[in-house]
Amino acid sequence: MDEKRRRLLTGLSFAGVGVVLNACRKTPSSTGSATNDEKKSEGPATGEAESVEVTATEDLMREHGILRRALLVYQESATRLRQDPASVPPDALEKTANLFRVFGEDYHEKKLEEVFIFPTVKKAPGAAPTYVDVLLAQHVRGREITEYLLSISKADRIPSNSVETLAKTLEGFVRMYAHHAAIEDTIVFPAWKAAVGQSELDDLGAKFEDIEHEQFGDDGFEVALKRMEEIETSLGLSNLEMFTAPAPPAAK
Ligand SMILES: [Fe+2]
Ligand SMILES: [Fe+2]
Repeated sequence: MDEKRRRLLTGLSFAGVGVVLNACRKTPSSTGSATNDEKKSEGPATGEAESVEVTATEDLMREHGILRRALLVYQESATRLRQDPASVPPDALEKTANLFRVFGEDYHEKKLEEVFIFPTVKKAPGAAPTYVDVLLAQHVRGREITEYLLSISKADRIPSNSVETLAKTLEGFVRMYAHHAAIEDTIVFPAWKAAVGQSELDDLGAKFEDIEHEQFGDDGFEVALKRMEEIETSLGLSNLEMFTAPAPPAAK
């Protein structure tokens, strides 16, 4: 792992609220006039997996994938808090909330959706514009909840008189954001894609890439994915098989 990536991982682990993760900003050569296709097909560094083209909408949707994995941590934490509060390390909750703030709120929401997606969708035909105000209000509510989570997870343990409130808050956030992301994936992003057209979509894909480099100094998705996997492992949630549903009752 190179020094730049190691520092960024550390940043995502320990960055406080509002810390900008551009201390290791990429060189200007990463920005400029290259098209999205050209940029995405740049050769990989030695030892790294070859990158493949990612469109702007795919980029937004895979960011939702990271955020959904954070929601899974929140849901599992809520369940465990009610069973045994000591089984939820505040540290893991703090890291998850920090990841949600840095990657979800400060980048995905503030730098992409609120600047590029929502203003265009607001003027699009069909039902999509009617969702924008609610989505914006949910961004605000989400940030309030993240603030609360960062605050309550600073302590070595969750105060017993806060356990039920915390569990309910986590569940409320999961319910809101799962639906929020699903509406964006199925209605808002397709409306945006139709409104901008293929040529502008390619240009914006390149711009998103530049913003990601400015914000994180590296491939923010890969860094966030690695951080999410570490959090899941620390909580024993990294085995996908454990989430396979039990068989249903036999049909009569
Ligand atoms: Fe959103
Ligand atoms: Fe989103």
